[in-house]
Amino acid sequence: MEAAGEAAMPAAREVPVQITVNGVPRTAIVPARTLLVHFLREHLRLTGTHVGCDTTHCGACTVALDGVAVKSCTVLAAQADGHEVTTIEGLMPDQAGGLHPVQRAFQDEHALQCGYCTPGMVMAVRQLIEDHPAPTEEQVRRALAGNICRCTGYQNIVKAALRAARAAQAATDNDVSR
Ligand code: FES
Ligand code: FES
Repeated sequence: MEAAGEAAMPAAREVPVQITVNGVPRTAIVPARTLLVHFLREHLRLTGTHVGCDTTHCGACTVALDGVAVKSCTVLAAQADGHEVTTIEGLMPDQAGGLHPVQRAFQDEHALQCGYCTPGMVMAVRQLIEDHPAPTEEQVRRALAGNICRCTGYQNIVKAALRAARAAQAATDNDVSR
């Protein structure tokens, strides 16, 4: 019971959102303060997107919003209303099936240990290759500056990014020569 003179706490304001996630329209009513990363993980159970800091430092929460990599802990679910989100679960497999080419490159280069940073790294590398189809090592390191890995020392992650870019380039050349 409220003490005399004590104001009742206002209920958290809720907002409807409709977000297309990995090609599927999803609707929900969420507290207005809900972060996109929490919407993905807790409402949709897409737990491949990780939370490493909640303060925009680690990049573990990286997803694509309308095709552009963003840290989903810095975006409100309400801001993504009416937009398209791709998470690590939504990456398309390569021609061999199973893995997206960037994921395959991470596997081939042993670019992970605990794997906590990996979904964010993969999403960041996907963006890098879109921006720079033939990146230099320096461009790779700059592109991954917002993604922290606590295990690997980054060397194999950089190698994986370069390998993924080469594979994407080879696939494009193949398509053109057909
Ligand atoms: S959880 Fe978003 S940057 Fe760390
Ligand atoms: S592999 Fe463990 S944090 Fe990157």
